[in-house]
Amino acid sequence: MKDAVGRIQRVLVLGGGSEIAHATLAALLEDGPLTAILAARRPDELETAALERSGASIERIAFDARATATHGDVFERAFSGADIDLVLIAFGVLGDQQRDERDATTTVEVAETNFVGAVSALTHATERLRTQGHGTIVVLSSIAGQRSRRSNYVYGATKAGLDAFAQGVQLALADEEVHVMIVRPGFVHTRMTAGLKGAPFSVSAAEVATAIVEGARNGTPVVWVPRKLRWVAAVLRALPAPLLRRA
Ligand SMILES: NC(=O)c1ccc[n+]([C@@H]2O[C@H](COP(=O)([O-])OP(=O)(O)OC[C@H]3O[C@@H](n4cnc5c(N)ncnc54)[C@H](OP(=O)(O)O)[C@@H]3O)[C@@H](O)[C@H]2O)c1
Repeated sequence: MKDAVGRIQRVLVLGGGSEIAHATLAALLEDGPLTAILAARRPDELETAALERSGASIERIAFDARATATHGDVFERAFSGADIDLVLIAFGVLGDQQRDERDATTTVEVAETNFVGAVSALTHATERLRTQGHGTIVVLSSIAGQRSRRSNYVYGATKAGLDAFAQGVQLALADEEVHVMIVRPGFVHTRMTAGLKGAPFSVSAAEVATAIVEGARNGTPVVWVPRKLRWVAAVLRALPAPLLRRA
């Protein structure tokens, strides 16, 4: 539960090993200690020494985004203690576009993780925060969801679906004390993009974290990282389809 000055004190991270999530926790820890509940496929393998040195108390829960039938139990465990101020939906896979566009099995795996799993997690999180009467959910979307491009439409489509779903949840929560923030980064230098050629306007996980923390404090509905990406997205949406065959 937030303290008297509104400081976030208890955070649930779905995708507990995400570099963006760890950077966000590090940014929050600059304001003082907090408890982070890290939900991940292999929770015991998560490296948390740096967070603990900065004042985090770590709890671990097993969580697989694709095992949606288990999500009810995961949220039951996560919310069995004190109130949770912030839920970070930070899991995701980039996939391999060249493979996935020809392989229905792997393309469904990407969709199950990034869309179905995230829709499930967002629905559970929304209901839990509604019940406790307050809190913020951060949804990691992407500029890739703004327009299908030849080079990453499998991943992009999953983020488009998640982004649209999250926008709907925002509408549904308009009169409640529960806030959903959609974060749309461009290319972020993390494990997910390691080995890929950086795109224009690429940022670090720390820059995304700063934007998340600022947006969560201000109740911002949509955060672009960097900010100018919203204009890039507007141009992308207006481009004729043939131009996107090479993008
Ligand atoms: N990096 C970028 O350029 C970028 C740009 C825009 C948006 N995003 C989004 O930001 C979020 C965080 O990404 P990141 O850059 O921090 O990458 P990351 O460090 O690779 O984090 C992704 C996390 O997702 C977890 N994950 C994958 N499949 C899972 C599953 N089935 N169940 C549970 N956890 C699963 C991974 O855990 P394991 O260790 O179990 O694999 C990993 O900890 C993702 O949603 C991503 O799509 C990233």
